Amino acid sequence: LPQDAEFLTDMLVEAVNWDPGREPLSRAQVLAEPTLTHYVSGWMRPGDLGVVACAPGPVGAAWLREFTAADPGYGFVAPDVPELSIGVLPGWRGTGVGRALLRELLCATDRDRVALSVERANRARNLYLQECFATVAEGPDADTMVWRAH
Ligand SMILES: CC(C)(COP(=O)(O)OP(=O)(O)OC[C@H]1O[C@@H](n2cnc3c(N)ncnc32)[C@H](O)[C@@H]1OP(=O)(O)O)[C@@H](O)C(=O)NCCC(=O)NCCS
Repeated sequence: LPQDAEFLTDMLVEAVNWDPGREPLSRAQVLAEPTLTHYVSGWMRPGDLGVVACAPGPVGAAWLREFTAADPGYGFVAPDVPELSIGVLPGWRGTGVGRALLRELLCATDRDRVALSVERANRARNLYLQECFATVAEGPDADTMVWRAH
């Protein structure tokens, strides 16, 4: 829903700052960076799809957005292949929320494919592999992965 934009931005900040060994970017820094803020700006736009986990307040979110070749996401594959973003509040990680969000979103989408970019050292990569994402491109530090509906 449009009113989820704030929480999605919180989860974008969590996703950007997944590595505890790195200096975290503030919310303002994330919002000032066009290659990051375009994952949530103007939520929701046509083609956007998201799910929020509530307990009862929001504790995690996963969402899809389509990009263009002119303004691609990190995991850009094609304009009709939306890119996944996902984040769970730190206190709720490792309890099944992320996997449930991912499954719900993949059930809800009508797209044949979903793409994402994940840094190779991020444990989230294991989750994607377990949920049938396959690596389609390898960058120096990050992989592009794609899920196909079957
Ligand atoms: C990645 C993330 C969304 C997974 O959600 P979660 O609720 O913690 O995950 P689940 O409890 O459903 O566990 C599913 C898998 O996620 C991975 N995982 C579990 N805890 C994790 C943690 N603290 N950090 C990263 N990945 C984790 C594991 O691979 C786990 O599978 P396993 O238990 O078989 O090893 C969540 O940990 C998170 O928000 N991490 C920081 C943000 C981030 O990395 N986003 C993705 C950027 S590409």
